[in-house]
Amino acid sequence: MKEIKTVAVIGAGQMGAGIGLISAFYGFKVVLNDINQQFIDRGMKQNEKWIERQVEKNRFDESKANLIRSKLIGILSLEEAVSDADLVIEAIIENQEIKNNTWKIIGENAPEYTLFGSNTSSLSITEMGKHSGRPTQFLGTHFFNPPVIMKIIEFIKGYETTDETLNALVGYGQTMEMNTVIATEAPGFIVNRLMIPQLNEAYFALMEGVATADDIDIAMKFGLNHPMGPLALSDFIGLDTILYIAEYLHRELGEKFRPCPLLVKMVRAGKLGKKSGEGFYKY
Ligand SMILES: NC(=O)c1ccc[n+]([C@@H]2O[C@H](COP(=O)([O-])OP(=O)(O)OC[C@H]3O[C@@H](n4cnc5c(N)ncnc54)[C@H](O)[C@@H]3O)[C@@H](O)[C@H]2O)c1
Repeated sequence: MKEIKTVAVIGAGQMGAGIGLISAFYGFKVVLNDINQQFIDRGMKQNEKWIERQVEKNRFDESKANLIRSKLIGILSLEEAVSDADLVIEAIIENQEIKNNTWKIIGENAPEYTLFGSNTSSLSITEMGKHSGRPTQFLGTHFFNPPVIMKIIEFIKGYETTDETLNALVGYGQTMEMNTVIATEAPGFIVNRLMIPQLNEAYFALMEGVATADDIDIAMKFGLNHPMGPLALSDFIGLDTILYIAEYLHRELGEKFRPCPLLVKMVRAGKLGKKSGEGFYKY
């Protein structure tokens, strides 16, 4: 199996940009891709801000900053972005059909040895693996937000993923000093299977007037020692992403995962959280 040196990250949003950044920080060559040059630029700018902040705080010096910068490039053509990659990580919108279509193109354009990882929060790895044309080389690589801070990757094996693929990706995670956990394919894997119902219940509590948004968050923060309350966390993740995951869990696992109507309404209103300027809180 070829050593992983070059990583193409498809989708330069919150997660894709961050996955590119942490990979570049640990010395991988990174190609960031998105559907529009503006989105690539936004991702690069977000990463540049982080790099500058670290230098200001003396976490590393300007030569390390330049080294990270030199490892990060943006390429708008998907075909070109994956053409020289040892590993492709996809972090586009949480929609099975769009991911499947994207993986088909990636599979047709990446070298034969290239390993594939999807950052999906909940969707079927087996299905994406099939569309990529190389299910044995396909793994769920679920990073957490933001990837530069959250030191964990949840790996999810699809029906045909080989141990060789898993081991290579575990090695990539370990190079980045990540904790790694392994799940077999099941909707939501480990973390979102447990987290989404809790977030959803917080929306019901708010909708039913059990408490204010602030008090729900304060209660969970100090009562359960969580670093953030569920509503602030939701704004941070993105309400559209949470709704996609909740709808999928509802379809696959049944009634107890039905998305709260308040969440549905907020997404329809374009209140997506921090990234849109307003969610449960204003930014
Ligand atoms: N937000 C989180 O906390 C979080 C955590 C873990 C995993 N995830 C997963 O990561 C993925 C991305 O989430 P995000 O929060 O970064 O979303 P985001 O909305 O910030 O970014 C998604 C990016 O994908 C791009 N995109 C959409 N379709 C594309 C395509 N066909 N080709 C290339 N780029 C495309 C969009 O333009 C956008 O820039 C989703 O699968 C999500 O479930 C999100």
